[in-house]
Amino acid sequence: MLEAMRKLWGGAFESAAAQAVDRFGQSIDSDLTFWREDVLGSIAHARMLGACGVIAPEEADRLVEGLERILREGPDALPRDVEDVHTAVEARLGELVGPLAGKLHTARSRNDQVATDARLWLRGAIDGVLEAIKALQNALLEQATAHRRKVMRGWTHQQPAQPVTLGFHLAAHFWALQRDGWRFERVREAANLCPLGSAALAGTTFPIDREATARELGFAAPIPNALDATSDRSFVLDALHAAACTLLDLSRLCQELVLWSGAEFDLVRLGDEVTTGSSIMPQKRNPDMAELIRGRAARAIGHWTAVAAMLKGLPLGYNRDTQDDKPPLFDAMRLTRDALGLCRLMLESAQWNTAKMARDAGDRASTATDLADFLASRGVPFREAHERVGRLVRACEQRGWRLDRLNGARLRELDPDLPPEAAERLDARRAALRRESLGGPGEKAMVAQLRHMKRLLAKPGFPSLV
Ligand code: ARG
Repeated sequence: MLEAMRKLWGGAFESAAAQAVDRFGQSIDSDLTFWREDVLGSIAHARMLGACGVIAPEEADRLVEGLERILREGPDALPRDVEDVHTAVEARLGELVGPLAGKLHTARSRNDQVATDARLWLRGAIDGVLEAIKALQNALLEQATAHRRKVMRGWTHQQPAQPVTLGFHLAAHFWALQRDGWRFERVREAANLCPLGSAALAGTTFPIDREATARELGFAAPIPNALDATSDRSFVLDALHAAACTLLDLSRLCQELVLWSGAEFDLVRLGDEVTTGSSIMPQKRNPDMAELIRGRAARAIGHWTAVAAMLKGLPLGYNRDTQDDKPPLFDAMRLTRDALGLCRLMLESAQWNTAKMARDAGDRASTATDLADFLASRGVPFREAHERVGRLVRACEQRGWRLDRLNGARLRELDPDLPPEAAERLDARRAALRRESLGGPGEKAMVAQLRHMKRLLAKPGFPSLV
């Protein structure tokens, strides 16, 4: 950084700020993320100033031409020895159009500008995330469809519970993403309002048209109160919440991929393109991407916490504290998008060990509930059926027999009163595919669920489920 950093203020100051102050206060490094939004906001403002007669129409045209050139040049042409991106754009504009550049800042402040830039950037970032959510949902739908009849173990308390199917399990992740998309859409609505023209906190005496700038920038409306418009950062917190929720959901998927790809589970092999090796152990195939997503979800939670703590107790009116909402916002949104893309790659490359899944599915008496259901369907009160099958499970354990592999003869040896068809109910695959209640893994229930997923995926956006 140069000794004297260029600033948009200083007239009232006798001497320059200390270097440490410049360094501590600058935001240009992180601001470059939304340089484009800053220029687009300035173009809308310049056009509006011209249209309202605040500056001459020819002046507005020259400002817009200069700003459009800055758009074409890209961020590399912007100076770096400046406090922030607003200063950088105005300085570059000065090089291109001369002193006229000084008129651009009429009837606005960096306070409404920075809030506008952040909202514009977030809107675009959310659109990218929504697209990535759809792509991951599409991968889940494809895999769930392909594996809708592949039986596997289902867990509660991480203990074998009841057999399900791989398709059913993968479909569950689809619905979590549907909620994440829905949540991000709500955040987009909250962010899609325009602060521009609020100036520092109190509006302006110039006859500006805030409706026009809001419209040109694609916002739904101008924010009604200038003080609120420049003070509000709740949309940042909303975005961080939605990002944290999404990353939490992805961390759960990733945790399963980490576990399932390990030798103890041995249920999936992730593709080479998403797997990493070890510098010492030549045989290793590590699921690093899944581990990093699982770990970095913590960062998103931290970002929410940091911004919430920073906003707490801030009085109305711009406060410099809020400069620091942007690095966490940028990071959380990028992280969310990258993680969604990587989860898609991992799923698309996954080779599921469906043979092992099928072998495990009926182990540990996982079809005991299905046998109890069978007895209950024959009129035995469920509580009694539960007790009776419980005794059967215990007898199997004592003999070292697998409940799901008992034939009719052995079954009757343990419980002579069981009807002969009872043995069929112990087969894991049949048990899973028969559970046809709405939302279950049964064949018809899954066809209906997959159809529902497909229908939602084809719709634009993320409608709620009803
Ligand atoms: N870099 C500042 C931020 O991000 C821009 C607004 C500065 N406004 C001010 N009054 N110092 O918040």
